[in-house]
Amino acid sequence: MRCFGLLLFLVLFLLCSNFDGCEGKRGRHWKQRKTPPSLVRKKERAKNGSRHGHSGGGGLGGGGGGSGHLSPPPAPSPSPSPSPKTGSPVPAPASPKSAGVFDVLDFGAKGDGVTDDTKAFEAAWAAACKAGDSVMAVPAEFEFLVGPISFSGPYCQPNIVFQLDGMIIAPTNAKYWASGLLWWIEFTKLKGIVIRGSGVIEGRGSVWWTDTDSDVDPALRFYGSYNVSVTGITIQNSQQCHLKFDNCEAVQVYNITIASPGNSLNTDGIHLQNSRDVMIHHANMSCGDDCVSIQTGCSNINIHSVDCGPGHGISIGGLGRDNSKACVSNITVRDINLHGTMTGVRIKTWQGGSGSVEGIRFSNIRVSEVQTPIVIDQFYCDRSSCKNHTSAVALSGIAYENIKGTYTVKPVHFACSDASPCSDISLTRVELQPLQERYHMYEPFCWQTFGELFTPTVPPIACLQNGKPASNRILSDHDLC
Ligand SMILES: *[C@@H]1O[C@H](CO)[C@@H](O)[C@H](O)[C@H]1NC(C)=O
Ligand SMILES: *[C@@H]1O[C@H](CO)[C@@H](O)[C@H](O)[C@H]1NC(C)=O
Ligand SMILES: *[C@@H]1O[C@H](CO)[C@@H](O)[C@H](O)[C@H]1NC(C)=O
Ligand SMILES: *[C@@H]1O[C@H](CO)[C@@H](O)[C@H](O)[C@H]1NC(C)=O
Ligand SMILES: *[C@@H]1O[C@H](CO)[C@@H](O)[C@H](O)[C@H]1NC(C)=O
Ligand SMILES: *[C@@H]1O[C@H](CO)[C@@H](O)[C@H](O)[C@H]1NC(C)=O
Repeated sequence: MRCFGLLLFLVLFLLCSNFDGCEGKRGRHWKQRKTPPSLVRKKERAKNGSRHGHSGGGGLGGGGGGSGHLSPPPAPSPSPSPSPKTGSPVPAPASPKSAGVFDVLDFGAKGDGVTDDTKAFEAAWAAACKAGDSVMAVPAEFEFLVGPISFSGPYCQPNIVFQLDGMIIAPTNAKYWASGLLWWIEFTKLKGIVIRGSGVIEGRGSVWWTDTDSDVDPALRFYGSYNVSVTGITIQNSQQCHLKFDNCEAVQVYNITIASPGNSLNTDGIHLQNSRDVMIHHANMSCGDDCVSIQTGCSNINIHSVDCGPGHGISIGGLGRDNSKACVSNITVRDINLHGTMTGVRIKTWQGGSGSVEGIRFSNIRVSEVQTPIVIDQFYCDRSSCKNHTSAVALSGIAYENIKGTYTVKPVHFACSDASPCSDISLTRVELQPLQERYHMYEPFCWQTFGELFTPTVPPIACLQNGKPASNRILSDHDLC
C-alpha cells in the first residue's frame, strides 16, 4: 500500500512537473547540446583570494563568469560564521562553528570554481534543515560549482536562512542537466526561508541563449513555500528565467539585482505563478525577456521601486493558452522606471482562454525609449499564426495613472477581444512623447476597449470607448474565478 502511494505520488509529481515550465511550455525536453569548448574554466585562482565582482560576471563568451582579476587581500568576510577559514576544510561531519550555522566549507565544499560542490551543499542543507532556525552559509571570496540541486523541505524545521555571500556558478556541461529538469537551484516546501547576502548566482547561460528553443528552467526556483524572502543577492546570466515563484505565499523580494544581456533569449527576470501576497521592490533588472512576468493564479501582488531595462517590460500573462482558465487579481505596479524596453506595462492573453484579470493598477511609471509603453493584447500568439476563438480571458478594472516618458513605436496599444471586450479601463495623466522623428510612429490603437479618460492624455486617445460594453456574452461557471 505504501509502495502504491509512493508510486502514485511519483506519477502525479511527474505529470504536474511536466506542465510547469518557466514559460509554461509543455513537455519539451532538455536537448543534448553541443558541449562548449571549455566546460570548466582552467583559470588559475588562489583559493583564498580571488573574488569575482558582481558586475564583471557573464560576458557573452564561452563559459561566462567573471574576469578573474585577483583582488587585493579581502576584508574579513561578512559571512555570519565567526571564525575565518584556515587551511583546507575538513569534510563533514563537522560541528558548526556557532550554534545553528552550517558552512558549506565545513561539509567539504572546495569553492574553487572547478570542483563539483553539489554534495557538500546537500550535506550542509541536510544539517540546517534538521536544526531549524539555522543558517546555511555560503561564504564570500569563494566560487562554488553546484549542479542542479533541490533544497527540499517537507520535513525541515521552519525558518532557515541561506546566507549567500560567495558566488554559485552553474555547470555548463550538458551531462549535469537531466531532461525535463525544472530548475537549477530549487527551494521547495519550506516554511520561512530567507535567501540573503551579497553573493551572486551565476548561471553562465550564454551557451543556451543562441537556441531559440532553449528550455532550461529557472536559475532559482521556489515551489510550494510559505514566508519566503530573497534579498541582497544578484542573479545573473541565467539559462532561462532568473527567479521563479510557483505555489508560494507571503513572498518578499527586495534589494536584488538581476542581470543578463538584452539579447539573451527567454531570460525573464522574475516569474510569478499561482502565488499570492508577493511584494517585489527595490530591484534592478536587465534581461532578455519580461522583467516581471505574472502568470495565472496570482493575486495580491505589489511591485514597486523597480528599474527594468533592457527587457520586455512588466507583463501579466500570456494567459489562457490552449483554452486554459486564468485568474489574476489585485496587482499593483508602481514607481517603476523602464528604459529601452520592448513594452512598458503589458497584459497579454491568448485567444480561447477563460477566467479573468481584474483589479490592476499601474501607477507612476517612467518610460524612456520604450517601444510601446502601454499594451493590452488579447490576440497574443508567439507562433506564426494562432486559431481564432470566440472565448477570452476577461479583462476589467485596469487603471493607468501617471505614466510618462518617451516611446519609439506606439504610445498605447489596446487590442481587446470581440467576444469579451475590455471594460473599466481608466487613464489618468498619461503623457507619452515620441522619441525621434526618424522612427516611424503609430497612433494610439484601441479595439473593443471601454472605459474612461480621467484627464486629457498626450497624445489624445480618441479610440477608447466611453462606458460599458453591451454585454454580449453569457458567463458560465467555468469563467468565474
Ligand atoms: C592566500 O594564500 C597565500 C598563500 O597560500 C598567502 O600568502 C596569502 O596571505 C593568503 N591571503 C589571504 C587573504 O589569506
Ligand atoms: C517568516 O519568516 C521569518 C524569517 O525566517 C520569521 O522570523 C517569521 O517569524 C516568519 N513569519 C511567519 C508568520 O511565519
Ligand atoms: C542591499 O544589499 C546589499 C548586498 O548586496 C547590502 O550591502 C546593502 O546593505 C543592502 N541594502 C539595503 C538597503 O538593505
Ligand atoms: C539599482 O540601481 C540604482 C541606480 O544605479 C542604485 O542606486 C540602486 O542602489 C540599485 N539597487 C540595487 C538593489 O542594486
Ligand atoms: C490587495 O493586495 C494587497 C497587497 O498587495 C493587500 O494588502 C490587499 O489587502 C489586497 N486587497 C484585497 C481586496 O484583497
Ligand atoms: C481571424 O480573425 C481575423 C480578424 O477577424 C481575420 O483577419 C483572420 O483571417 C482570422 N484568422 C483565421 C485563421 O481564421
